Amino acid sequence: METLDEGLAFRSARPLPSMSDAHPPAPAPLSEFVRENIAFAANQYSGMLAQLAASNVYPRTWTGEKRVLVRPADWTSGFFPGALWYLFEATGELRWREAATAFTAGLEGMKENRRTHDVGFMLYCSFGNGYRLTKEPRYRAILFGGAQSLATRFNPNVGCIKSWDTRAEWPFPVIIDNMMNLELLLWASRESGDPSFRDIAVSHADTTLRNHFRPDASCYHVVDYDPATGAVRNRQTHQGAADESAWSRGQAWALYGFTFMHRETRAPSYLGQAQRVADFILGHPRLPADKIPYWDFDAPRIPNAPRDASAAAIVASALFELCDYVPTDAAARYREAATEQLRSLASSAYRAAPGDNGCFLLKHSTGSFPRGSEIDVPLNYADYYFLEALLRKSRRALRHERDGMTRR
Ligand code: GLY
Repeated sequence: METLDEGLAFRSARPLPSMSDAHPPAPAPLSEFVRENIAFAANQYSGMLAQLAASNVYPRTWTGEKRVLVRPADWTSGFFPGALWYLFEATGELRWREAATAFTAGLEGMKENRRTHDVGFMLYCSFGNGYRLTKEPRYRAILFGGAQSLATRFNPNVGCIKSWDTRAEWPFPVIIDNMMNLELLLWASRESGDPSFRDIAVSHADTTLRNHFRPDASCYHVVDYDPATGAVRNRQTHQGAADESAWSRGQAWALYGFTFMHRETRAPSYLGQAQRVADFILGHPRLPADKIPYWDFDAPRIPNAPRDASAAAIVASALFELCDYVPTDAAARYREAATEQLRSLASSAYRAAPGDNGCFLLKHSTGSFPRGSEIDVPLNYADYYFLEALLRKSRRALRHERDGMTRR
């Protein structure tokens, strides 16, 4: 990962799209719990913006002394702009739209990035949220460009998109994280009516469902395929404790990915898988009482394994969506678990003290334990999914109130 020095003050890089074209949201109606967390986030990220020099480098983490900034091609570059869009959505304040627009603009070049599956994370969190909230036509074109680039990585022999080009020993690695990038493809088909993007997403999800999971519904991190025959060569890990362990963030990506696959296709197989993964996570004997997982469900506990707040934030966000697709008793169980996770993340054990933590929101995430990288630190994607989960919780409560349903 290339890191960059930070400078003095953030400047908007591009003019705003005209407000006449925009669909500014009314500020989201928020519960007191969500409102307080959004106010906290707004305060932290105001501090962050005041300390950033340019809008084409992206805050990723904080070492305790220094903020780590990355370029657009870093897999995490879309999360900071995405979090700024969520603040715009939550507050309706133009200052967040201005900041989100500027940081989103710096990622335009990623629409031509054919060297990684991560183009989905980079573009859908930034331009995807921007387009959802503003209907800016330029954003739509950039998202299609990104979907086309991502689709070039699909191999019909394997039935999957290739994740990485970087490891010689893996000719065709597919990591569970890759599920997340399918949302860009599903969007592209929904938006254009061209089924080819969706067909790729469905093929990838079906192949992943067949090959990535163990009988207990936990998943491998990496499945390496023979690109000529599609045969599975190896099942291994990259960021987990062992090839046969359950890396916590991998389980979170699986839950989130199969949940939106069900949203977009209504296929019962995806819903069943999402539920099995949710039940694996929530029923795991090593899930701590505060429901914030250790970095790997099978990590040795002694003396004290680090947690992964990012995994918890991703799981909470996914569970708030999954609630909408399952019977009442399961919905209640998932909503309660997600709410408990959010309450833990919002407590002083995980949420930064105002102005601390390099102005990131959450503490105690783990990037790659086996590489000794980003252990027990803030991470931009923990913040992004925390904000997303807060908004999903609010939207869900509002929908139930509006529909006159008893809140589950
Ligand atoms: N997608 C990389 C990670 O979750 O660390």
